[in-house]
Amino acid sequence: MLDKRRLHAPGSPPCTLLFVAALTITGCLSFWLLNGCPGPPLLVSSPMVAQSPAYVLILPGNGSVHPRPYVLSELPPDDETTLIDVRNFRFVINHEPCNKTQPLLLMLIHSAPSNIPKRMVIRETWGQRRNGAIVLFLIGTDDKLQNQIEEEDKIYGDIVQGNFKDAYRNMTYKHVMALKWATYHCPGAKYVLKLDDDVFVHTPAMLEFLSHDLSPWGARRLILCDLMAMAMVKRSWRSKWRVSPLEYPGKTYPVYCAGWAIIYSPDSVFSLYREAQKESYFWIDDVHITGTLAKKVNLTQTPLNSLILKKERLKAVLEKQNSPGDFLFGPANMAESDIRALWYIVTSKPWPSFN
Ligand SMILES: *[C@@H]1O[C@H](CO)[C@@H](O)[C@H](O)[C@H]1NC(C)=O
Ligand SMILES: *[C@@H]1O[C@H](CO)[C@@H](O)[C@H](O)[C@H]1NC(C)=O
Ligand SMILES: *[C@@H]1O[C@H](CO)[C@@H](O)[C@H](O)[C@H]1NC(C)=O
Ligand SMILES: *[C@@H]1O[C@H](CO)[C@@H](O)[C@H](O)[C@H]1NC(C)=O
Repeated sequence: MLDKRRLHAPGSPPCTLLFVAALTITGCLSFWLLNGCPGPPLLVSSPMVAQSPAYVLILPGNGSVHPRPYVLSELPPDDETTLIDVRNFRFVINHEPCNKTQPLLLMLIHSAPSNIPKRMVIRETWGQRRNGAIVLFLIGTDDKLQNQIEEEDKIYGDIVQGNFKDAYRNMTYKHVMALKWATYHCPGAKYVLKLDDDVFVHTPAMLEFLSHDLSPWGARRLILCDLMAMAMVKRSWRSKWRVSPLEYPGKTYPVYCAGWAIIYSPDSVFSLYREAQKESYFWIDDVHITGTLAKKVNLTQTPLNSLILKKERLKAVLEKQNSPGDFLFGPANMAESDIRALWYIVTSKPWPSFN
């Protein structure tokens, strides 16, 4: 349970009202987690949000304006068995953890069949079972490892596997599979968080952020992430991200989200999914889905800015046991040992009880 007193201190107006006022007056998103109410807004510095937010929050009285994020009947009849240009798509391993429930947060983690140690770290740290959140690992196929994956899934029941080959250039299949899974199997989720398997999510802070700084009823048109602007298309043969002019003719990519952590509202998931199913394949998934397709369907990304713990800061936290302060995500590409260490620091601190 959330400690309401922290947010509604005696004598101060309720946060929700302040928030609506802040949103209306300044168009800013404020973040006063841990600071009581009202705290210093941390997410206001970007000119991109300073004008008016690109998303809408669902608040009491606003629900009827945004009744349902989407209806599945808008999709073509063969959509379920299609994944972009794969015509016989199916889930080899699947689960129904949402089954009529409406989790606040659905976390879909891109993983690779062989990344068992990474999945174990997540299960033991920030991905532990907790109310309001569902954690699943998304993988493709690898014939040599299939038995092992099935054994792992028997124990943990948190793997979703699609019948495409798990390969570097197949990342976009995985991302669209994530959008597909959320669309068909967890339509009630208020927020969908797409992640990589080498990241750190401060899950208690995240649930608090979603339900108090955003809205427990969810949002519309939301894509919240680490924004990449004016990124050059890599043409060098030495680059891991080399793209030929045939694959992508332009010199720069549109504004897009770094793929390691992206918060979507369910309607954003749906419109990006529907568009992805119609478009030709481009293998850099974050550029394609959160850049090219987001632009096509007229969605604007909102930057996470200060809610990411920077690399240097993480170093100080791990070496000197400094307090990490308020954050939702660690830096991208974390070592497993650092994920464990940061989780220990975050959870052994006196932290208001969330459950
Ligand atoms: C409530 O919905 C209306 C209509 O879509 C929108 O203009 C307004 O910004 C919403 N309120 C909040 C706080 O998101
Ligand atoms: C969903 O939950 C109900 C009751 O909790 C159960 O009977 C049913 O089998 C579940 N369905 C799936 C697909 O897991
Ligand atoms: C991607 O997956 C498809 C479908 O399984 C497969 O035909 C293709 O070879 C894979 N691509 C790579 C680079 O492995
Ligand atoms: C795109 O979305 C904005 C609101 O975010 C709206 O004002 C505008 O009319 C939309 N444009 C198109 C072409 O749908």
